[in-house]
Amino acid sequence: MASSRHISIIVLVLLFGGSKANPAAPSHSQLDVNHKKPLQTFRPYNIAHRGSNGELPEETAAAYLRAIEEGADFIETDILASKDGHLICFHDVTLDNITDVANRTEFAHRKRTYEVQGAKVTGWFVVDFTLKELKSLRVKQRFSFRDQRYNGKYQIITFEEFILIALYADRIVGIYPEIKNPVFINQHVKWSNGKKFEDKFVETLLRYGYKGAYMSEGWLRQPVFIQSFAPTSLISVSNMTNSPKVFLIDDTKTPTQDTNQSYYEITSNAYLAFIRNYVIGIGPWKDTIVPPKDNYLGQPTDLVARAHAHNLQVHPYTFRNENSCLHFNFHQDPYVEYEYWLNEIGVDGLFTDFTGSLHKYQEWTKPYPKKQKKAEALLHEIANMLKDDGY
Ligand SMILES: *[C@@H]1O[C@H](CO)[C@@H](O)[C@H](O)[C@H]1NC(C)=O
Ligand SMILES: *[C@@H]1O[C@H](CO)[C@@H](O)[C@H](O)[C@H]1NC(C)=O
Ligand SMILES: *[C@@H]1O[C@H](CO)[C@@H](O)[C@H](O)[C@H]1NC(C)=O
Ligand SMILES: *[C@@H]1O[C@H](CO)[C@@H](O)[C@H](O)[C@H]1NC(C)=O
Repeated sequence: MASSRHISIIVLVLLFGGSKANPAAPSHSQLDVNHKKPLQTFRPYNIAHRGSNGELPEETAAAYLRAIEEGADFIETDILASKDGHLICFHDVTLDNITDVANRTEFAHRKRTYEVQGAKVTGWFVVDFTLKELKSLRVKQRFSFRDQRYNGKYQIITFEEFILIALYADRIVGIYPEIKNPVFINQHVKWSNGKKFEDKFVETLLRYGYKGAYMSEGWLRQPVFIQSFAPTSLISVSNMTNSPKVFLIDDTKTPTQDTNQSYYEITSNAYLAFIRNYVIGIGPWKDTIVPPKDNYLGQPTDLVARAHAHNLQVHPYTFRNENSCLHFNFHQDPYVEYEYWLNEIGVDGLFTDFTGSLHKYQEWTKPYPKKQKKAEALLHEIANMLKDDGY
């Protein structure tokens, strides 16, 4: 842990300009939530999918900082583990598609073939690299139709660095980390004392003060949603933390990676009633809620209505501005897509690659109430006055 803390400090010093940033002193004003603008909870959440990855290489410090600037309520990430057991922010189990690993001759012999969720995959696997080796790689943009100028500029970051980026924001910004590919990670990475990936994941959150039920005082100070496609992982972490959890749901053809259950089984009323005991919401792929045909929207399914009837929130993924990602009904206008999902379907949070666009749409159509802003600012000031007076 010591070495990744050390890296965290270096990164923060680089990010925030020197002596002011000191994660060893959590009482520092940058970390003092009492002086920060609170999380908005009156409208659906803007969840910055892999940071502002529409603009900058995904899951890098730069992508997360951009998302925070642009108004994200939550920054979202995928947690995987290195060969030496460090938790990192990275989406794919292989490094091939979004790093320069293939160009690094010293790693040529590391290419492997493993079974991942029932399929044989060949490439350079995250779990075969130490954190130090992973840090030596550079990340690039996933999609060729996006800005390539930032390729090769940024490193992979650790879970701890990700948390510190959120904690150092100048307002309260939540985190939305995923327990990614837990079956594969537990097969390939071993920790001391028989600890599992899920244990290390929750330990990290607890160490940084993330705890408390949804909307509790603790949660509002450090908001978090824990997400996973693997129900077993969500159920097992509920014994370790009462932080809210979200069950991700894949497309209709992909069975769950741990319990091998079909889409239809895990979206049945019986299953929603069961999983409701462990999670606060579901995160489905948007095209399963409104299945498209020839790139036009089809008839919406009743999944959102049934989830709401089970008191489950719905946070669909993934909203992308580009024409190639928009159904024709939206006239190549991402604001029309947001309007549809917020006003017609009625969801509780949206995973977007373009936090800035969603934020602008929501500020135009449902702005943060001015009076509420003023009242909150006044109450903060009064609370601080009373504190200074020794009450
Ligand atoms: C990497 O890109 C290739 C080609 O686009 C795609 O087939 C493959 O699924 C990608 N791999 C991952 C892990 O996303
Ligand atoms: C790998 O090297 C080739 C040839 O020099 C270059 O075109 C390519 O951009 C490099 N890829 C990455 C991801 O750095
Ligand atoms: C959670 O804890 C209870 C009580 O200790 C135990 O019976 C149960 O098996 C645990 N569940 C999981 C999934 O670990
Ligand atoms: C998963 O379930 C499907 C359908 O019931 C079955 O055909 C398949 O063999 C199962 N896979 C595993 C790994 O158990």
